[in-house]
Amino acid sequence: MPNIAIVGAQWGDEGKGKVIDIFAAKSDYIVRYQGGNNAGHTVVIGKDEFILHLIPSGILHKNKICVIGNGVVIDPRALLEEIKVLGSKGIYVKGRLFISDSAHVIFPYHWKLDGLKEEAKKKKKIGTTKKGIGPCYADKVARSGIRIIDLLDKETFREKLKANLEEKNNILTKIYNADVFSFDELYKEYFGYAENIRQYVCDTSILLNDAIKCRKRILFEGAQGALLDVDHGTYPFVTSSNATAGGASTGTGVGPNKIDKVVGVVKAYTTRVGEGPFPTEFPDDLMEKIRKKGREFGATTGRPRRCGWFDKVIVEHSVRVNGIDEIVVTKLDVLDDLDSLKICVAYRYNGKLYKNFPSDIKVLDNCQPVYEEFPGWKKDTTAITSYAGLPKNAKNYLKVIQKLLNTKIVLISVGSERRQTFSKGA
Ligand code: IMP
Repeated sequence: MPNIAIVGAQWGDEGKGKVIDIFAAKSDYIVRYQGGNNAGHTVVIGKDEFILHLIPSGILHKNKICVIGNGVVIDPRALLEEIKVLGSKGIYVKGRLFISDSAHVIFPYHWKLDGLKEEAKKKKKIGTTKKGIGPCYADKVARSGIRIIDLLDKETFREKLKANLEEKNNILTKIYNADVFSFDELYKEYFGYAENIRQYVCDTSILLNDAIKCRKRILFEGAQGALLDVDHGTYPFVTSSNATAGGASTGTGVGPNKIDKVVGVVKAYTTRVGEGPFPTEFPDDLMEKIRKKGREFGATTGRPRRCGWFDKVIVEHSVRVNGIDEIVVTKLDVLDDLDSLKICVAYRYNGKLYKNFPSDIKVLDNCQPVYEEFPGWKKDTTAITSYAGLPKNAKNYLKVIQKLLNTKIVLISVGSERRQTFSKGA
């Protein structure tokens, strides 16, 4: 198996955790390249459910190497807690987890500012996870951030934290009328984390490129989804990193020519958490039904996810901006009870037909979706183990999606367990 990037093709929560888990079995290294503990990858193994926020979900395979790349923002508290929880379930990371020395660190002032900025936005809020992701990436781009390598060095850390706190405490008091952070307390707490994290830290670009030279197979694990990408998503209702496949290169220090294939994970319908445009959002009754059946609640925040019909316009955009070669369709079973299903093939706004994803948020916010309708299959698919065994109308639904996207569907998932996945075949 070559080096593969797995990306979410919608607004995240497509079921990437499970797909990554399946691909991880055939990989040697599994690498996170962007985002932070805003992500929540759920993997069900037998009776155990694991929700990973920061550590690549490949860690659940005992002999795999997992890497947190330079493009990730790391909350040391969350990281150490995740390591502890995994250890309590018999999964040990020592010798298998490597963290980039260039990844940026999330501090409590990032969480605080995340929350305060959201409150200040009132009705225009983004609906962030309040994990400090945006403010941390903002510091990175503003060139004032603190990287893991800085955290590990007493003097550098002291100097950088001092400069950052001076600025942040000023913002907190003068703009938001909020409490300040104490330098001494933060310094002591975070240098303590540094001592625990040190054992995992290295130049992961060297690690990965050496592994590639030795013909090891690398799996790049995307978090969130293309429509949450800071460049290609529904800006400003996005996260602050490049969730698309390009991020796999910049976020790891592995050249794009070393990534052989991009696999897009597509939910059989659409969901999004947080605010922002959602043209195919269901009416309330259907929303409740699908949310309940699909257990559509955020793995990180527990927030109910907004649900809607499959939207070809956004997924086609996603196929293009990611360079998706193959598709995995997840949660097909959630649609089992419906009499008929709709797929949005275009938007109509101000008398104009939009077949391509519009960059103008006004269009997305106010457009009318143009739907095509298909008969449902009204049959439980959760015990089905092959494509051939699917009801005719379910096959038809998948064929339509494949044709509309002009991209091959390779895997289909009909439940959260590993065994509820099968290939589509030729
Ligand atoms: P942030 O990443 O916390 O800044 O949140 C920005 C937007 O991305 C919000 O709409 C979040 O709900 C959304 N978001 C962030 N991470 C995820 C995820 O893993 N799944 C789905 N939505 C996410």
